Amino acid sequence: MAQHRNRRVILKTRATALPTPELFDIVEDDAPEPGDGEALIHNIYVTADPGMKGWISTAVNYASVETGATMNSFGVGIVVESNSPHLAEGDYVVANTGWQEYSVVTPGPKSVRKVDLADGPLSASLSVLGHSALTAYFGLLHVGQPKAGETVLVSTAAGAVGSAVGQFAKIKGCRTVGIAGGPEKVALCREEFGYDDAIDYKATDDLAAALKEACPEGIDVYYDNVGGDILDTVLSHMNQNGRVTVCGTAATEGWVPPPTGLRFERNVLVNRLRIQGFILFDFQDKYEEALTDIRQWFKEGKINYREDIAEGLANAPAALAGLYQGTNKGRQLIRVRPDPTL
Ligand SMILES: NC(=O)c1ccc[n+]([C@@H]2O[C@H](COP(=O)([O-])OP(=O)(O)OC[C@H]3O[C@@H](n4cnc5c(N)ncnc54)[C@H](OP(=O)(O)O)[C@@H]3O)[C@@H](O)[C@H]2O)c1
Repeated sequence: MAQHRNRRVILKTRATALPTPELFDIVEDDAPEPGDGEALIHNIYVTADPGMKGWISTAVNYASVETGATMNSFGVGIVVESNSPHLAEGDYVVANTGWQEYSVVTPGPKSVRKVDLADGPLSASLSVLGHSALTAYFGLLHVGQPKAGETVLVSTAAGAVGSAVGQFAKIKGCRTVGIAGGPEKVALCREEFGYDDAIDYKATDDLAAALKEACPEGIDVYYDNVGGDILDTVLSHMNQNGRVTVCGTAATEGWVPPPTGLRFERNVLVNRLRIQGFILFDFQDKYEEALTDIRQWFKEGKINYREDIAEGLANAPAALAGLYQGTNKGRQLIRVRPDPTL
């Protein structure tokens, strides 16, 4: 059994506001060895996710990383040693790898997903054929439940999740309107992601008027990735029986102390709105079912996607910080080492 050295990014300090590179450190030690039933993965791409703000925060959250521990993340890599009958050397797998070169995984239907390169590029297993698309799928179709002809509004519309939401809604026969930051992202929404209209929230000081113009028949489903002022404004433009999918809160810097804002009970009451949050993992049992649809749409050329790939683990913290400045153009990934499939 070869002994590998492992470079990994650890969490040095928990965050009370937006993540910055100073919260992390990079260390090198021996790679872990796989035990019985486990496998060692040599990672190729790992992810930076906006939700990591919550994972490393001092505030209560659904997931958490301890100080001194390897930063948690999804990743895709190649099996280099296996003590499991379910994985063979040379298999490509998506797993909870963390920001490190080598990870030990225990194969199981919920922990490890094998990648078939015939479906698309390896990196896509973390974007348009992976977690971003799954989040879009369940948040839109299971939580938002749009019907053909309805208007679906999406925030962070040019991002990894948002771009998939817009395209899935279009496939379901909806009118789609995106909200994104900056002219380049607005153009992407219209030209690549098929949105019927798109609003640059950074360029308008009257979002309410912009929404009225872009959604003349009101909004039936709002897929919310940001919360904050944008959500407050959207809520007064929702149609009766409208649905709001709360997927992310990118616009809120920190939750300690919890921010206060507009009270929206009246809009919810009068318009009989349903506002529902969800966490992707709630739908783990249905991933394969969803991926069957997503792979099919991808194969048929119905879904475009963008990836923004930072080079090397040392750049992972900066890539994460960039998500909260909107510098990423598409799914933010980090290439840990050269992709052998390219
Ligand atoms: N519920 C779940 O299980 C789940 C799972 C995965 C992801 N998510 C959520 O889905 C959302 C999108 O994730 P993603 O991976 O696709 O990221 P992304 O949209 O590709 O990147 C994050 C984007 O957030 C926007 N943003 C940053 N700060 C903002 C602010 N103050 N106000 C408004 N927008 C801001 C930026 O877009 P602009 O340049 O357009 O502002 C940035 O590019 C995130 O909120 C994430 O937490 C939820």
